[in-house]
Amino acid sequence: MMHEELARLEAALEGVEIEYHAQLDSTNNRGLEVARKETLGGPRLIFTEEQTAGRGRGANQWWSASGSLTFSLLVPGDRIVPPTEWPRLSLASGLAVCEVLEALAPAALVGLKWPNDVFLGGKKICGILIESVVTPQPCLIVGIGLNVNNSFRSAPAELQATATSLVDELHLPQDRLAILVSLIKHWQRRQTELQLSRASVAAAWQRYCVLTGQVVRVDQPAGNFTGRCTGIDDYGALLVLTESGLERVMAGTVRLV
Ligand code: BTN
Repeated sequence: MMHEELARLEAALEGVEIEYHAQLDSTNNRGLEVARKETLGGPRLIFTEEQTAGRGRGANQWWSASGSLTFSLLVPGDRIVPPTEWPRLSLASGLAVCEVLEALAPAALVGLKWPNDVFLGGKKICGILIESVVTPQPCLIVGIGLNVNNSFRSAPAELQATATSLVDELHLPQDRLAILVSLIKHWQRRQTELQLSRASVAAAWQRYCVLTGQVVRVDQPAGNFTGRCTGIDDYGALLVLTESGLERVMAGTVRLV
């Protein structure tokens, strides 16, 4: 990133400290390291041009091709996002991505797959990995990988069928920094709103939920079950109607059957 671009980012994101790296293994790894070593005065954005070992949820990897947007927002958890709201952080983060995408690609269908995968035109465009550190201070690491100018057009067919990027949808390269700024602003706005009026944020994530009406399988450490998703409630739980009644899912992996 050029010096002017960094200055532009700093000016646009007042109050957010910016840590830029030309290359990192993973912005979340760096976030974990900072959270364990430093005392943060406020939010910090860890941003890299190239991530060599991006991590996804579980044992997954996240391929960060050149042109993609990869960053982690590090937030002192107790102040900006109180622990009572942590269960809703995933959804609110995914929601912020949906809102930015909808503004950029109004003609495409934007969807949120609980808890925080974002789809554009039926293909995954963004993954979010949220991690937390408890000591020395409660800290959240919100890692976001968004496919922006990395095209999948020459990717293997099976990847092309499931993943997309903004340039593939819009056929024009996008301004990654402008998207980054807009994402962080939406994220901040939704976090504040979550504490003031949870129902209005919930109405928004409900609107984007792609699982509503679908038969899903939920995998949890305690066991698996299948049912029809009826939406997401105000507390962020996925609602699944099974033969034995309504299940409120707060954690686990969900897939379409
Ligand atoms: C997933 O879909 O499984 C989550 C993918 C999360 C990828 C982002 S890229 C920035 C941040 N750093 C990482 O190592 N992972 C997240």
